[in-house]
Amino acid sequence: MKTLIDEIRSLKVERNALVLAHYYEDGAIQDLADFVGDSLQLAQYSQKTNHAVVLMAGVVFMAETVKILSPDKTVIVPDPNAGCSLVTHSPIEKYKAWKASHPGSVLVSYVNCSAEAKSISDVICTSANAEAIIRSIPQSKTILFGPDRNLGSYLQKKLNRPMELWPGACEVHVLFSARKLYELKKAHPGAPILAHPECLDAVLQYADVVGSTSRLLTEVKQNPAKTFIVATEPGIFHQMKKARPDAEIVQAPAEGSCACNECPYMKMNTLEKIRAALHDLSPEISVASQIIDRARMPLERMMKITAGESVQWH
Ligand code: 13P
Ligand code: SF4
Repeated sequence: MKTLIDEIRSLKVERNALVLAHYYEDGAIQDLADFVGDSLQLAQYSQKTNHAVVLMAGVVFMAETVKILSPDKTVIVPDPNAGCSLVTHSPIEKYKAWKASHPGSVLVSYVNCSAEAKSISDVICTSANAEAIIRSIPQSKTILFGPDRNLGSYLQKKLNRPMELWPGACEVHVLFSARKLYELKKAHPGAPILAHPECLDAVLQYADVVGSTSRLLTEVKQNPAKTFIVATEPGIFHQMKKARPDAEIVQAPAEGSCACNECPYMKMNTLEKIRAALHDLSPEISVASQIIDRARMPLERMMKITAGESVQWH
């Protein structure tokens, strides 16, 4: 009898589909994906393949990014409700008004935003390339950074570059507790603390490494330490444990007694929903063609800067 995984594998071939998974998905989903990565790597990988269909096991803004970069592909998702608090914290009319009230500024939008927000942005960044993107903008320009205030404030300090920040946040990463992290650090002296820049500044001040999911994974692979304290969504522990079975990965604690550092949106995706999506080629992501046309420029600008090419600023 065919297992669920066997069925998904057969459907992938029948549909000529590429399955992409973010590091925050369940381990079983990561294991069946053709490629697992951070948000930048997933966008880059999707551009390199000839598959007619891409299934994004991640959140909807990641699937929209694939659609904007490759409008001819059929992009499907296991669950269309897999949103992101940063998307809901940046409603387009307010975001547009913010931009309009700062004429002549450069709007840098974190990739965790809607396709509409991307379409009014000057450049997009992810947590993996944000520093390079900000550095590429002439000092004479005022920078508006949204929608993640915590990533923005981290960049502002690290690069000594003042920016206007939009007040959005990741509802998952803001729950890590600086006070409890301090206690945990005392219990594990010498364990490097790895944190995603969506965490609050009070948490980041304890971190030895601040970076994207792929950066944190690289640290676990390359650092000979035997214990790591990790302040990000625990889905990535799957790859960390695979890479370093000899090491202990300790979850940074949340405030209160909840185990609430799982992203509820990433975790909406299941193997059953993946099978159904590949079978029905639905739910399909659609982005209006005028939004695709406008959102492609800031995404392509991001890709160029990431590749070390220079770009023109207005
Ligand atoms: P990465 O770009 O580091 O994969 O992060 C995406 C994300 O949603 C973090 O919460
Ligand atoms: Fe959005 Fe936070 Fe979930 Fe990442 S972890 S997808 S930023 S809600």
